[in-house]
Amino acid sequence: MTQAGDNNMSKQNEPSAKPQTATQPVVMQVSRAGEQSSNQDLAGGVKGKLRRIMLRPNDSTAKTLLVTFMLCLGCSLLVSAAAVLLRPTQAANAMLDRQRNIVQVAGLLEEGGDVQSAFKNVKSRIVNLDTGEFTDEFNGSDFDQTLAARDPALSTALSKDEDIAGIGRRSRFAEVYLIGSGDNFDKIVLPVHGLGLWSTLYGFVSLQSDLTTIAGLKFYQHAETPGLGGEVDNPVWQGKWSGKLAFDAAGDVAIEVVKGVVDPAGARAAWQVDGLAGATLTSRGVSNLLQFWLDDQGFGTFIENLKQREAS
Ligand SMILES: Cc1cc2nc3c(=O)[nH]c(=O)nc-3n(C[C@H](O)[C@H](O)[C@H](O)COP(=O)(O)O)c2cc1C
Repeated sequence: MTQAGDNNMSKQNEPSAKPQTATQPVVMQVSRAGEQSSNQDLAGGVKGKLRRIMLRPNDSTAKTLLVTFMLCLGCSLLVSAAAVLLRPTQAANAMLDRQRNIVQVAGLLEEGGDVQSAFKNVKSRIVNLDTGEFTDEFNGSDFDQTLAARDPALSTALSKDEDIAGIGRRSRFAEVYLIGSGDNFDKIVLPVHGLGLWSTLYGFVSLQSDLTTIAGLKFYQHAETPGLGGEVDNPVWQGKWSGKLAFDAAGDVAIEVVKGVVDPAGARAAWQVDGLAGATLTSRGVSNLLQFWLDDQGFGTFIENLKQREAS
C-alpha cells in the first residue's frame, strides 16, 4: 500500500517530459495572444483618444494641433510620393533639355523640329582636359562636370591668374559633343561656364569643323538681370556669334565681346561681338569665360590635338 502510494505520489511529483513540451507552446501562444491583445488595446486606446479629441469643439487646442498634424502628415506624404514618382520624368526632361541646347547651339534644330531626331547625329565623348585626349574612364550619361569640379580627385584648383572665368576649380574632364557621322565631324559642341555679374553662366559654344569658326553660343543657366545681362538669351544677340572666329592666325584665343557695337570695317571685327547695352560686366564675363575655356586651361590642348589629327 505504502509502496503503491509512494509510487503514485512520486509519479504526481515527477516532472515528466511530455507535459513540459506540451505546455511551452501554450505559454508562447498565451504570451503572443497577450501581446496581440495588448497591441490591440494600445491601438484601440490611441484610436479612442484620437476619436475623443476629434469630438471636442473646434476651438479646442488639442483638436487644432491634431488636425494640423494630420494635415502636415498628409501633405508631406503627398509631396514625398510626388518627388519619388516624378524623379524619372524629371531626369528625362533634364536630358531632353540638354539635348535641345546642344542641337540649338550647333544650328541643327529647325523651328518646331524634333530634338531627339536632331540629336541622332550627335556623339558624346569625355575628354581629359590635361592631355586633350578622349577617355573612356567615365560613361557619358553618368558624368557630371559640375560635381566633378567639386571633387578634388577630379578637379584642379585655379590660381588667381589662371582663373579669368571666376570658377575657382576646373574639372579635369568634360563631356563634349561631336556632330557628324563616323570619326569625321562637321561641328563640335563644348560646355563652358564662368562668372557674369550676379551669377555663373552655363552654356555651350559650338565650333565648325575648322575648329576656329564659331557656329553658335548659347547659355542655358544664369541669374543675370532680365533686360541687362539677361540679354545673353536674346536670339538676336546669340545670332551675332555665328561665323565669328575664336582663334587668330597665331592660334591664340582672340574672340571678345566689345563695349558697344563692333566696327565692321575694323581689323579685329571677325573676332568681335557687340556688347550688351548697359551690361558691360556680363559681357566681360562672357569674353572671359570663352577665353578661359578655349585656351590651355580649358579645351585648348584638345582643340589643338583635333586640328593636328584633321591635318594628318
Ligand atoms: C538692378 C541692377 C541690375 C543690373 N544688372 C546687371 C547685369 O545683369 N549685368 C551687367 O553687366 N550689369 C548690370 N547692371 C549694371 C552694372 O551695375 C553696370 O552699371 C553695368 O554693367 C555697366 O555697363 P555699361 O557700361 O554698359 O553701362 C545692373 C545694374 C542695376 C542697378
